[in-house]
Amino acid sequence: MYMTYYPISIQEIKQKVAKRKIFRPIDRAIDFPSDYNVKEITNEFGESLTRVDGEIPIDLEVSDGQRFLFISYDQSRYSHGIHKYPAKFFPELPRWLIKRYSKQGDLVLDPFAGSATTNIESLLAKRNSVAIDVDPFAKYLAKVKTTPIEKSELFPAVEAILKKLVEFNPTQTRDSEIPDFPYRDNWFTKEMLLELAHIKKSINSTVIDKDIKDLCLISMSSVIRAVSNADDNCTRTVVRKKLNKEIYPSFALTKFAENLILNSHRINEFSQRFHSGYRVEIPDGNDARYLTYPDDTFDLAVTSPPYANAVDYPRTHQLEMYWLGIASGSLSKLKERHIGTEVVKASDYKQLHRIDDKEADEKIEKIYKLDQRRAFIAYKYLHDMRLNLKEVYRALKPGGRYIIVVGNNKIKGELFESWKYLMNMSDSIGFNVENYFGSEIIKHFIKVPREERINTDWIIILKK
Ligand SMILES: C[S@@+](CC[C@H](N)C(=O)[O-])C[C@H]1O[C@@H](n2cnc3c(N)ncnc32)[C@H](O)[C@@H]1O
Repeated sequence: MYMTYYPISIQEIKQKVAKRKIFRPIDRAIDFPSDYNVKEITNEFGESLTRVDGEIPIDLEVSDGQRFLFISYDQSRYSHGIHKYPAKFFPELPRWLIKRYSKQGDLVLDPFAGSATTNIESLLAKRNSVAIDVDPFAKYLAKVKTTPIEKSELFPAVEAILKKLVEFNPTQTRDSEIPDFPYRDNWFTKEMLLELAHIKKSINSTVIDKDIKDLCLISMSSVIRAVSNADDNCTRTVVRKKLNKEIYPSFALTKFAENLILNSHRINEFSQRFHSGYRVEIPDGNDARYLTYPDDTFDLAVTSPPYANAVDYPRTHQLEMYWLGIASGSLSKLKERHIGTEVVKASDYKQLHRIDDKEADEKIEKIYKLDQRRAFIAYKYLHDMRLNLKEVYRALKPGGRYIIVVGNNKIKGELFESWKYLMNMSDSIGFNVENYFGSEIIKHFIKVPREERINTDWIIILKK
């Protein structure tokens, strides 16, 4: 018997978690035969769309400019549901592209891999792959999500950690066990700092395999935003005056226990489907603009690059990185390496820069009249994306395809149509634009609000 100071019962948590969808058998109705789940619809704005429910048929007919409404059922299946990540792929999309444009044993590249959706799907489809990202948090998460774990080791290790978790005694956690980072005591209440420190100690003091430890630490990371004082509804990490959530004693412990149980089942589902002999490489010292791989290496590249001026990834994951010990102090060095970064020098944006694409330059000029700094950020984004297009062209085998999923966004109120500018640039690099089509990505049964329609993603298929 161990003393519990806090009202946390692992038994109750397990019962609650057992009701989650992940433990229910998969609805067979979503595995339709290929012509069943494709139909023409008219949306509420009178526009024609092709709606595809669940698995996308490999031989789906696609014409230039066609718009699709893909309904995803697999957002959390396998290891996909481990940890939030901004602008994640819905898995059916890379799954379909990988099967359509590569064969078993091929090598697939994702130069902006983020949380490794492309790489997980490559493994499940018996392809090897490489995940490139400049973000240390993304690389760590990608490693966890693509590493299979033996279930006979996984579940006993999880039990051992849960057992330590309930031994929490706030008076026995020393301040020195709480990591120090900027504005720490604004981001977290004292209780949450103590609970998180106890979670970290429970993981680190248990003798377990490194891959299991990493899964547990990522599970700890997955509760950090929720238990902090930061706004849950904002990608950026910000504290609001009026907090939109209740933080109570045992919150971090309970949430962590739930997520650890869920994530261990997720990684187990992935591991059961994993085919040994196939692997994912997550190299250091690479950047989407400079790959350390020789010419003609990859059979296929599938990616979703960052949007211009949209998500500040280091800032989004700052609290998680501080707790995981992969960042400390200022984030500006990390930010500089990100394409689309807002970290730019005043001396750079005093004059107007041109990218040599008529449409893009007209847009940059319009933005320049409103805001010189934003105009430079937009220019720099396209400049960096051109370096990426050239680099992927070099590293692809002749005949290989580079598939880019990218949306539009607004800069200073101006619609910035990245997909069009990228398509124009790819032409001058030597790619043939084989096909392009739109995807209105929504979650299952969520209505598309009018504003969101601007964020239609475009999928560009380029052939070397
Ligand atoms: C839209 S996200 C990719 C999400 C991914 N498709 C997924 O399913 O999780 C874009 C990624 O590009 C990464 N990134 C930004 N600049 C980069 C660069 N210069 N080289 C490589 N990756 C970069 C960001 O860290 C981010 O993870």
